[in-house]
Amino acid sequence: MINKEATNINQTQAASEAEILPLLYSIINTKLDSMANMDHFLQLIADTGAKIVSARNSSLVIFTDKMDIPSSEAKARDEPAMMHNFCRSDSYIVIPLLLRGLKDPLGYLRVENKQGNQKFDSKDLFSLLLLSRQVTLKIENDLLYKRVHQDLIDSLLSMVNMLESRDKYTYSHSRRVSQFALAIAEELGLDQKEKDVLHMSGLLHDIGKIGLPDSILNKKDSLNKDELEMVKTHPLVGENIMRPLDFLALERSIIRHHHERLDGSGYPDGLEGDELSLCTRIMAVADSFDAITSARPYRKARSYADGLEELTRLADEKYDRYVVSSLKKALFRSDAYC
Ligand SMILES: [Fe+2]
Repeated sequence: MINKEATNINQTQAASEAEILPLLYSIINTKLDSMANMDHFLQLIADTGAKIVSARNSSLVIFTDKMDIPSSEAKARDEPAMMHNFCRSDSYIVIPLLLRGLKDPLGYLRVENKQGNQKFDSKDLFSLLLLSRQVTLKIENDLLYKRVHQDLIDSLLSMVNMLESRDKYTYSHSRRVSQFALAIAEELGLDQKEKDVLHMSGLLHDIGKIGLPDSILNKKDSLNKDELEMVKTHPLVGENIMRPLDFLALERSIIRHHHERLDGSGYPDGLEGDELSLCTRIMAVADSFDAITSARPYRKARSYADGLEELTRLADEKYDRYVVSSLKKALFRSDAYC
């Protein structure tokens, strides 16, 4: 299915190296992380293709349903085969964009009508083949990065699943905290990037509990002082687990600080007031709300009404009042309130 296309018509100027090099640089450096950037990327390729061979018209179609990393079972193409998969006449050239391991082309770059009524020659073809290889290398690198990124996230989420399977009382706690945090973010009108950070840090916020023994995780009585101190290490342990992952820096900070409180009574750093970021305040409210409204070994679950009442009572002292009231509005809006 063709679902992305960029065109460039009526190119009238032959391009110099000084014009082409910045375009190539932009192609390589465009982040393919949004539809807007993808449109910009496609337009750049169409523009660059036209300029390189002085074509009056150019177009690029991409089959975005193929934009996934090829599976290891897929038969890899070799270089020589890729270089021969094109179509050329005096008035047009069509170059397929081929990703390694993908059976069918990802898309096609087409240029038409060379300026000055000239004919396209083998040098034009070679230039466009080089351009298409640069483009496919860029896409392959991005897809590979995306795959590695996702594999790391999946590994972390597996650790959370392992933790929750050991701790029957907090099973699904992380997913609920993530949902409450997102509901608050929606109510506050946060942008998608902040929502993504909250979603991920909600899922991972208690990952540091992985090191706690079952005797503490599932203890039916109240924890003694030493056990409590061990539990209080989990934000730091969680942060350490995440430390090698630079791309999750914001999530790491929220994981470290999700037990901080406005009055400085939280841990591990005793932050107060403005030292707590908005996302940290949201996570603190979402986490505490789920803790209050979930069953514990030593008590039954309390209702959403009780949970909101408790958080409202502690608003300004421990929790951000605005965030608490946003949770309340979000719950009313979703009919979850009871
Ligand atoms: Fe926690």
